[in-house]
Amino acid sequence: MENATLFRDKSVLITGGLGFIGSNLARRLVEYGARITLVDSLIPEYGGNLFNIEGIEDRVRLNITDVRDRYSMAYLVRDQDYLFNLAGQTSHMDSMDDPHTDLDINCVAQLSILEACRKYSPTIKVVFASTRQIYGKPDYLPVNENHLLRPVDVNGINKMAGEWYHILYNNVYGIRATALRLTNTYGPRMRIRDARQTFLGLWIRLLLEGREFEVWEGQQLRDFNFVDDAVDAMLAAAISDLANGRAFNLGGERAISLRDLAEQLIEVNGGDGRYEGRSFPSNRERIDIGDYYADYKCIRESPGWQPRVHLQEGLALTLEFFRKHLKNYV
Ligand SMILES: NC(=O)c1ccc[n+]([C@@H]2O[C@H](COP(=O)([O-])OP(=O)(O)OC[C@H]3O[C@@H](n4cnc5c(N)ncnc54)[C@H](O)[C@@H]3O)[C@@H](O)[C@H]2O)c1
Repeated sequence: MENATLFRDKSVLITGGLGFIGSNLARRLVEYGARITLVDSLIPEYGGNLFNIEGIEDRVRLNITDVRDRYSMAYLVRDQDYLFNLAGQTSHMDSMDDPHTDLDINCVAQLSILEACRKYSPTIKVVFASTRQIYGKPDYLPVNENHLLRPVDVNGINKMAGEWYHILYNNVYGIRATALRLTNTYGPRMRIRDARQTFLGLWIRLLLEGREFEVWEGQQLRDFNFVDDAVDAMLAAAISDLANGRAFNLGGERAISLRDLAEQLIEVNGGDGRYEGRSFPSNRERIDIGDYYADYKCIRESPGWQPRVHLQEGLALTLEFFRKHLKNYV
């Protein structure tokens, strides 16, 4: 990244810092010489994993705290230059089975974090990890930021509210904030134990264990970002004043059907692997969004971001990582 030096000696707080994207971001910021504090609750069903910071543990400050604890957050946001706000409950099914926990983490806690910023750290810049899930079932493709927001699950509604609190605090209180609507993100350190973070995680686990994985339906189109690209976008959003008060789509270089993705994954694994196609379980079908891929023209124009890592290369890097470290993730 061209502006890497801008993060040297900056104080950076990452909520969800032991998770998939948060830990990859932390690794990059360590390289750039930032002073980093990670906040994570390590709730076992979520993506946090101590192994995610293996090798950088001496170069980050770690605070095992829940972002729902507003007193801790009020302390932690002080004197920070940047907040990358990534802590979240990510499972769509869990949000339907236990809607109040999703509400507390993805919505109420977000408001508390922003209140903490308003009171104790008004000069901080916040980058919020939002999601394409807030669009629901697309009316048209590719989906741009003008598309109606019409979530199909509780998680989508709470993430939408979380996102809009950030925009509101930017507009009303001048707490500079940018939201990025992430699409399916994958790469080293993702959760592969189950499908809570993404179906692709479970596919990878089963593939590497020599077991068959399931592809539900299979013709749905999706786009994917390798995690390094998502990290680039977060850093670009952090240093851009033009991005303040805005929500941007991230998106993949192209859309791919899930069946083609399964084939590609097996090909990248040297042709080794098998999957079974089946129809959706009914509880999944009710909250499925069908085809989705993003138009990311807005962020490409300013602050200037586009995905660089091709799917094949990203999948290869991901499999290589998990082949080496499988036992730490299952
Ligand atoms: N991975 C994706 O494809 C994707 C897509 C869209 C949006 N996002 C968003 O990006 C963010 C990061 O996602 P990820 O894929 O790295 O998931 P992740 O589960 O690996 O990371 C989230 C982290 O937040 C932590 N966390 C959860 N609740 C917490 C709480 N109450 N207090 C403190 N820490 C808590 C978890 O322990 C975990 O380490 C999330 O907000 C998610 O909604 C991710």
